[in-house]
Amino acid sequence: MAKTAGPVSSTGEVYEDGVVRAFALAAVLWGVVGMLVGVIIAAQLTWPELNLGIPWLSYGRLRPLHTNAVIFAFGGCSLFATAYHVVQRTGYTRLFAPGLAWFTFWGWQLVILSAAITLPLGYTSGKEYAELEWPIDILITLVWVSYAIVFFGTVGTRKVKHIYVANWFFGAFILAVALLHLVNSAAIPVSLFKSYSAYAGVQDAMVQWWYGHNAVGFFLTAGFLGMMYYYIPKQAGRPVYSYRLSIVHFWALIFTYMWAGPHHLHYTALPDWAQSVGMVFSLVLLAPSWGGMINGVMTLSGAWHKLRDDPILKFLIVSLSFYGMSTFEGPMMSIKTVNALSHYTDWTIGHVHSGALGWVGLISMGSLYHLIPRMFGRTEMYSKSAIELHFWIATLGIVLYIAAMWIAGVMQGLMWRAVNPDGSLVYTFVESVKATYPFYVVRLLGGVLYLGGMLVMAWNVVKTVQIGRTASTPIPAALAHA
Ligand code: HEM
Ligand code: HEM
Repeated sequence: MAKTAGPVSSTGEVYEDGVVRAFALAAVLWGVVGMLVGVIIAAQLTWPELNLGIPWLSYGRLRPLHTNAVIFAFGGCSLFATAYHVVQRTGYTRLFAPGLAWFTFWGWQLVILSAAITLPLGYTSGKEYAELEWPIDILITLVWVSYAIVFFGTVGTRKVKHIYVANWFFGAFILAVALLHLVNSAAIPVSLFKSYSAYAGVQDAMVQWWYGHNAVGFFLTAGFLGMMYYYIPKQAGRPVYSYRLSIVHFWALIFTYMWAGPHHLHYTALPDWAQSVGMVFSLVLLAPSWGGMINGVMTLSGAWHKLRDDPILKFLIVSLSFYGMSTFEGPMMSIKTVNALSHYTDWTIGHVHSGALGWVGLISMGSLYHLIPRMFGRTEMYSKSAIELHFWIATLGIVLYIAAMWIAGVMQGLMWRAVNPDGSLVYTFVESVKATYPFYVVRLLGGVLYLGGMLVMAWNVVKTVQIGRTASTPIPAALAHA
């Protein structure tokens, strides 16, 4: 890495990797589960009879199960694993309070299981990405505070002066998510499984989308940028392209994200000026996002040839292309006149999944492919060709998914606004639903491919674990000037 110098000898201590291993394996398991539920709801949108008349299999209950499973279980476990791995390696130190780190593991699995039970039963606070009821919210708070203590405790006990930039992103993600969760989940409980938001009316909407957009900015972006800044240089064997740019990237991104939430509330009861603030900050957000993307991609300068035969680098670099694509599309969709067309349509779903499958999914998979063998005493996964296969079917799946949703979305938007000379609508709503059908079939196919890739990964991970061993890694002594 750019600022931490190489090891000279061992300190005699070993890294605390047990919890990293546990979170990494859990990430793979929850990835399969969350994507399977995604495929089921994609099939239900194509053939609604697949609800089978069973309430807990209905679309409205499985949809939040999908979003919670992929974001908080798959994404969350990937973030815990990599943050705990990176903060030790870049600080030449052991995890602070390992017992508490294990509490975060079991506590987080309990949160996931509680979500998997309560959501299909229909218990929900009704706030998107914050559906879980108040007792689970309290457990999340306990786990998150422990996560912060372990992470910042480890930063505090590091053996090198410098705090490597990946830790800044992980740290900002941990702090911001704590703040978002505490403010947005404030509620008045009326029974064990029912509460009402502490806010009302448009204030409730504003707080919810301040949370919602920053969940994208900090949960689905900042933490994964932490992965980018560690695993791309490691896998490429090159230092970060510009360390100075990474610092500018950090501060600009952190400052700008916080103000962009109102772009989710265009043309609502929210005051017009607040909507405009959201739009302007979203447009500004393009600059730091692309600065970060360029920094990641250019880290490969002089080593482009490695991309040809290293499938892990393919995951990492292509994830950045999707990051660039979705952070160009997002600012465009935040322009009020564009949003008038895109809002309520499948264009939004296409945008979400170009970020979620392309950026969050691929960067996590690439990082886990780098991390998992090393956690089991090996330098490589069991099968390199399986990683290559995974990469290609996942990429094809993403392209099918997002292309289908973009075309469907623009079509829906245009059909809904088409008017005859006498002012009546050209199309009924159901005509737009019928016209969308073929695109839902293509999206389903894309989802099946993406899930197929994840199953290949799960097989490869099981094989790697079987032939590996869980030996402890000694902590090297850092050079004095590092
Ligand atoms: C096999 C892969 C996947 C499939 C087939 C899939 C499918 C779906 C479907 C059908 C919906 C509902 C769309 C609608 O209501 O019209 C959805 C929503 C969503 N999915 Fe996925 N998904 C997959 C993977 C992922 C991943 C990996 C993530 C995140 C890391 C993700 C995040 C989301 C989010 C945030 C929404 C809600 C979007 C919104 O409300 O605008 N999905 N997904
Ligand atoms: C510069 C960065 C970005 C900007 C300015 C942006 C902007 C937007 C806009 C304008 C919408 C549509 C709001 C609506 O009409 O309801 C949206 C929706 C969404 N975006 Fe982005 N986006 C960005 C990056 C991303 C990334 C990287 C991801 C995923 C990793 C993402 C995930 C989402 C999700 C999940 C939604 C749907 C929220 C919902 O309605 O449930 N965005 N974004």
